[in-house]
Amino acid sequence: MDTQNAIAILGTGNLGEAIARGFAKDLGTENIFLTRRHLSRIEHLSELGFETTSDNKYAVSEAKYVFLCVQPKQLENLLKEIEPSLDPAKHVLVSTITGVELSTIAGYLDAEYPTLRVMPNTAAAIAESMTCICGNELADQHISKVEEMFRSLGETLIIEERLMKAATVLAASGIAFFLRYIRAATQGGIELGFEAEEAQKIAMQTARGAASLLVEGNAHPEREIDRVTTPMGCTIAGLNEMEHQGLSSALIKGIVTSFEKINTIAE
Ligand SMILES: NC(=O)c1ccc[n+]([C@@H]2O[C@H](COP(=O)([O-])OP(=O)(O)OC[C@H]3O[C@@H](n4cnc5c(N)ncnc54)[C@H](OP(=O)(O)O)[C@@H]3O)[C@@H](O)[C@H]2O)c1
Repeated sequence: MDTQNAIAILGTGNLGEAIARGFAKDLGTENIFLTRRHLSRIEHLSELGFETTSDNKYAVSEAKYVFLCVQPKQLENLLKEIEPSLDPAKHVLVSTITGVELSTIAGYLDAEYPTLRVMPNTAAAIAESMTCICGNELADQHISKVEEMFRSLGETLIIEERLMKAATVLAASGIAFFLRYIRAATQGGIELGFEAEEAQKIAMQTARGAASLLVEGNAHPEREIDRVTTPMGCTIAGLNEMEHQGLSSALIKGIVTSFEKINTIAE
């Protein structure tokens, strides 16, 4: 076992499992300890070689990186439980917990620890996450290692903590926003004569293609739009009608409304 890089994931639910599977590709399952109280629900992971346990303190004692992946209301009790096994000279804390600030985590603990917050999205399950990362001052020397870990789950960006709620809206809620576009395009396609499955296949691949044009071509959206809008053609007619109906405005207002909401629920 690589004790210098071993990981404990405390709270192996949806996100914890996705992270574990992604990290295992580089680290090997034998270096990853997974915990949850209902152990039978992660039995399938123990069959893959992960060490699974309900003993959080044991997992912490074996690891360097301690991932906190429980629900926000479960965090305080979890930290109180593991504190006797935590060592500020050894452990790095990494929280995935939405809306819980670094200062809140520090407030639950007596000693100061290198602590990072990460905000992946559900596409972590297929290694296509957009993960934003920030950390306290003690975490400076660990941030590139944690970023490297999350690169096995998709793209990463290191940001200031003040942008973490905005990152949650843009990247985590953003999955729902893009999916709703795909659903609407599918419904449009059905109205034009496609079967539902065919329409969804066309919408999904077109969305992927549009994103890939920007990612791989390092392009600006408007430049790619200009390429497909023939003067007096059908694309510009449809696009302008969408804008008359408030497409861009609705998207921006929706993102800002989500941000206003997250500011009320995460305080
Ligand atoms: N899902 C996402 O894509 C996503 C994205 C960004 C951030 N997040 C954040 O990440 C956190 C986890 O999200 P999730 O969707 O994975 O939630 P989840 O599926 O509810 O997972 C939380 C897990 O924590 C376990 N747990 C609770 N108390 C525990 C304890 N004392 N010791 C060990 N395990 C414990 C629970 O299992 P038992 O009941 O069996 O213990 C559960 O499996 C949340 O705070 C969420 O805000 C999630």
